[in-house]
Amino acid sequence: MVSRTIDNTDLQVSPLGMGTGSLHHLRSDAQCQRLLHGALDAGLTHFDTAPVYGYGLCETRLGRFLRGHRDQVTVTSKIGMYSPGWTPCGHLGVLARKAAGKVLPAASRPRVDWSLQRAKASVQQSLARLQTDYLDCLMLHEPHPAAVPADAFLPWLESLREAGVIRAWGVAGQATPYANFITGNSPLAQVIQTHDGINGGDGDIQLSAGRRLQFTYGYLRDAGPDFDMVELLRAALTRNGTGCVLVSTRRQDRIAQFAQAMHDGVA
Ligand SMILES: NC(=O)c1ccc[n+]([C@@H]2O[C@H](COP(=O)([O-])OP(=O)(O)OC[C@H]3O[C@@H](n4cnc5c(N)ncnc54)[C@H](OP(=O)(O)O)[C@@H]3O)[C@@H](O)[C@H]2O)c1
Repeated sequence: MVSRTIDNTDLQVSPLGMGTGSLHHLRSDAQCQRLLHGALDAGLTHFDTAPVYGYGLCETRLGRFLRGHRDQVTVTSKIGMYSPGWTPCGHLGVLARKAAGKVLPAASRPRVDWSLQRAKASVQQSLARLQTDYLDCLMLHEPHPAAVPADAFLPWLESLREAGVIRAWGVAGQATPYANFITGNSPLAQVIQTHDGINGGDGDIQLSAGRRLQFTYGYLRDAGPDFDMVELLRAALTRNGTGCVLVSTRRQDRIAQFAQAMHDGVA
């Protein structure tokens, strides 16, 4: 199986990675497990998640899948943006929270919190939901340099790495707001996960700073109404020829096309 080593880390990941940002849209956990197993069988061995996805449900669902597969995959989760309230136990709970948010926006709006205390608690909660004792990568979720207390975060991230709780850390989200981290060579930005496009995008900030792309996403979502998915993903795998292109779907039938694109795109 072809893998790529992410710059600045020893993480070996599949060229296409499976995003979990829409797992909460699946009605049943069984559907979800079939999708995740399908992705792994197709050769997607990297999985991206966050505590805020599905108010925690996406991590919970990924955690059920990770039981028995942990040593075959790499996993990213995040800190800084959190679910308002408890984790729903299923799809209906997510719908109920969204409905409540129409009346009372605070019930569904993500909470942004850059305190170290909240980040520490969140890592423990993510590990519990994911049923694992380590994360391959921990990312700051859509950070703004002015809001992040880098002096407090860096020693803590280093201590997590020394303790084997994380293998790497980085920043994730549209790169423009945290471009200072990239151009200023911040040690928080050892790994960069950014929105990108096949003809350019936020990935250019990283490339102009002399850094190769690491994790990128958004190629399918922004493609418009009619496109050849395999062709587009081949182009994405060429554009990001050194890292991992994250994709997501709720549809099992798209997984075979992911596998096809990965096979052609890195051959
Ligand atoms: N801040 C961050 O770090 C950040 C931000 C955004 C995303 N991410 C991560 O990256 C992952 C992927 O991001 P993304 O969701 O933007 O990825 P994407 O793969 O570019 O877009 C997925 C969307 O495209 C649709 N799609 C897939 N194949 C299609 C096709 N052939 N025709 C039409 N539509 C198609 C999917 O719908 P169907 O479900 O119907 O297939 C889904 O709505 C996320 O799940 C998340 O893990 C991270």
